[in-house]
Amino acid sequence: MADWTECMNYGIHIAREAREVILHAFRIKKAVMLKSSPADLVTETDQRVERMLISAIKAKYPHHKFIGEESVAAGEKLILTDSPTWIIDPIDGTANFVHRFPFVAISIAFAVNKQTEFGIVYSCIEDKLYSAQRGRGAFCNDIPLATSGQEDITKCLLVTEIGAERDQLALATMTSNIHRLLEIPVHGIRAVGTAAVDMCLISTGGADAYYHIGMHCWDIAASALIVSEAGGVVIDTNGSEFDMMARRVIAASSMSVARRIAQAIQAFPCERDDDP
Ligand code: IPD
Repeated sequence: MADWTECMNYGIHIAREAREVILHAFRIKKAVMLKSSPADLVTETDQRVERMLISAIKAKYPHHKFIGEESVAAGEKLILTDSPTWIIDPIDGTANFVHRFPFVAISIAFAVNKQTEFGIVYSCIEDKLYSAQRGRGAFCNDIPLATSGQEDITKCLLVTEIGAERDQLALATMTSNIHRLLEIPVHGIRAVGTAAVDMCLISTGGADAYYHIGMHCWDIAASALIVSEAGGVVIDTNGSEFDMMARRVIAASSMSVARRIAQAIQAFPCERDDDP
């Protein structure tokens, strides 16, 4: 089995450098541009941090490939091949970043043969660096992580996201899903504004399950591995195997909780990330 530790350590090193850029920009007023909807935001810092990360990785690993949120937004094709590929969200939680709501993360996943080998999520303002390498456990600032192990949905604190979709079907599905889950009942439902950090909260045991429809592979590729390595499960919202391109995810403390959520919620249609 190949050892990707050197690449992971380099990923952590450049994420620390990128955090400095984000911290500086966080405090000042930003020019905001729109992407797919009035709630899908991007700033010059998202673009700058992505360029910074990709050029640093390219200089060290010239044959590696990239899937970057802002490169795809700028028209680059999203193709995951078997080659070593870095999947990057330079700022997960851009709307938080714009408003100075203090949860923004750099998310970096690294896949080979379409399998995630390591994931890094740096929650910049909190200064929490989550990481996991396949088969080697998950950590936050070097402290080992473990999910809550909760099996009973009625004792669960859930996390979800409202997302950037604003069409009628997406809004109706999202609100009725919240309604169905509260009716079970669960202890509560939270939303932090960054899918990557939301999922990492499951890996710490601070919440028991997360579900989301409509996010992209760069939002959750790294944190999906972090949850699995912390002992959690990650599946599709329809109950099938997790597919990072399908834009649907449930991450949970146990399979029984994940299946109960899958039973309760519905998905609205989303184009796959890798649709040509
Ligand atoms: C978004 C965040 C948000 C989620 C959206 C994502 P971005 O990522 O993760 O929490 O609800 O679906 O697109 O655009 O801030 O990188």
